[in-house]
Amino acid sequence: MSTQAKARDARAIAHHYDVSNDFYALFLDPLMVYTCAYYREPDGTLEQAQADKLDLVCRKLRLRRDERLLDIGCGWGSLAIWATQHYGVRAHGVTLSRAQADYAAQRITALGLGERCRVEYLDVRDLPTDARYDKIAAVGVIEHVGVPNYPAFFARVHAMLEDGGLYLNHGITHGFYWRPTSQTEFLTRHVFPNGDLAGLTETMIEMERARFEILDVEGLRRHYARTCRQWVARLTARAEDARRIVGERVYRTWLLYLTCSAVAFEISSIGLYQVLMQKHGDRTDGDAPRTREDLYR
Ligand SMILES: C[S@@+](CC[C@H](N)C(=O)[O-])C[C@H]1O[C@@H](n2cnc3c(N)ncnc32)[C@H](O)[C@@H]1O
Repeated sequence: MSTQAKARDARAIAHHYDVSNDFYALFLDPLMVYTCAYYREPDGTLEQAQADKLDLVCRKLRLRRDERLLDIGCGWGSLAIWATQHYGVRAHGVTLSRAQADYAAQRITALGLGERCRVEYLDVRDLPTDARYDKIAAVGVIEHVGVPNYPAFFARVHAMLEDGGLYLNHGITHGFYWRPTSQTEFLTRHVFPNGDLAGLTETMIEMERARFEILDVEGLRRHYARTCRQWVARLTARAEDARRIVGERVYRTWLLYLTCSAVAFEISSIGLYQVLMQKHGDRTDGDAPRTREDLYR
């Protein structure tokens, strides 16, 4: 990957995520989770559903005290912080947004978690080649990777995992009959300059090519439709504050993108899947969950 391509990706991420932390705080939950929530109750609140999502990811990864967790694309630090507080791991988050990294670092210090949790402004591709982790999560990152880069991305994640380690990939896929349209053109031009989606099957082929064993696949499309609807309602309710912080153009652009996303999930034009994988090696069976019941105990 050339330096130019990395610089382009960093600019694309900054375009979206460095808009303003105060703006995102207007419509996200207090933990600042910016991906699909998990509604255990169909009419549940965003706050509860985001906490439940973080916990679901930790349970699927079977996090244990003192394990090293890498959170690729850690956003404002929600998962790294949650996993440190509730599961006692040593968390390392990386994000390509300075605004997110600064926010997360302040929260980690304020919570007194600095010994076990750190977030860095860093491209995941720039982690040292000898970096190793027991568990890895990438929540809402594959959308930025670019389909042609999947082989390199999954190979890198594989190389960073210890034998027997678990990797959870949570990301948007497009539906089988999805086609680029003027709406997707709007999204890539104004909202996600490096956004790129693949189908689930296509993505899983690349995961398998990278020598991961796929243990579990869960579709959360309906959960993302509700998440987007709740973000839209919250943003609309804070319209005046949003206009003051980011101006009319960004406010309307984000409102349109979040609404289009809700509709796209509702009509199944796009989907959301969590795929849990294992790296094989000497510890082949390792920690992998045997049953789904195990996850909900
Ligand atoms: C949709 S946000 C998800 C944030 C967080 N995981 C969450 O659930 O709230 C996508 C994240 O991926 C990060 N990202 C994208 N490409 C990256 C890369 N090459 N290296 C590190 N982080 C990256 C962005 O900076 C952002 O934090």
